[in-house]
Amino acid sequence: MTTPVLEVADLSAGYTGAEVIRHISLTVGGGEVVTLFGPNGAGKTTTLRVISGVVRASRGRVLYAGRDLARTSPTARARAGIAHVPEGRGIFFGLTVAEHFRLGYRGARIDPRVVYEYFPALEPLKDRRAGLLSGGEQQMLAVGRALARRPQLLLLDELSLGLAPLLVERLLPVVRNYAEDSGCAVLLVEQHVQLATEIADRCYVLSHGDIVLHETGARLAGNPGLLIASYVGQQSAGPGQQGDGAGSGG
Ligand SMILES: Nc1ncnc2c1ncn2[C@@H]1O[C@H](COP(=O)(O)OP(=O)(O)O)[C@@H](O)[C@H]1O
Ligand SMILES: [Mg+2]
Repeated sequence: MTTPVLEVADLSAGYTGAEVIRHISLTVGGGEVVTLFGPNGAGKTTTLRVISGVVRASRGRVLYAGRDLARTSPTARARAGIAHVPEGRGIFFGLTVAEHFRLGYRGARIDPRVVYEYFPALEPLKDRRAGLLSGGEQQMLAVGRALARRPQLLLLDELSLGLAPLLVERLLPVVRNYAEDSGCAVLLVEQHVQLATEIADRCYVLSHGDIVLHETGARLAGNPGLLIASYVGQQSAGPGQQGDGAGSGG
């Protein structure tokens, strides 16, 4: 088996004493799109923050292309190819679209052509301030800004928050295409179940800080009941079945 781009092993983390995620393990391979589902407060955002280095792990490891990131700062992780689009987009309302692609982390290479290739709708809006874009355009900008750095690992937190389903339907396939074209590993937190299971290779469900389900996107898309049951803690599939379904074994 090839080394996954991201491997999270036995990871626990939280805030000032309170553990929010406990002993979670997951992988994302190159070119793969993996969705992390779970109810509000389950620890999804925290998981992404630990991977990008904003929150420290209290136990366990985050491996990037096989390398332990424990001693790597968030900035160094970004430089090494990890891009994190946080909840709430992380764009600057006072800057124009084009100006967003001139701002980089120190030493980061930014390539706006990638953005306009994947999001042609942004090109005519180059000189418009981000605060004057629609919600969907702002979200394209947030994702585009991450793509412009040609990441090898892309962490996306609730892109669809506040967006009309039609816009999400356009956004998620672009992410899928980028992963396939570039070999980038994508870990997506998403509440829009139907779209996210359709574009995901595999899905994990996080509930109260534990991974309670691991399935292929295809199987979840065809069995929405599995996901609902995992949210309410009544999994219909046994642990063996879950593992087999997603080919997780180890
Ligand atoms: N900065 C923070 N300080 C303290 N507690 C936090 C902070 N961020 C999140 N939490 C708590 O951690 C838990 C998990 O939150 P989060 O990871 O944001 O969940 P999700 O993204 O799945 O909704 C929640 O109980 C939340 O209140
Ligand atoms: Mg969240």
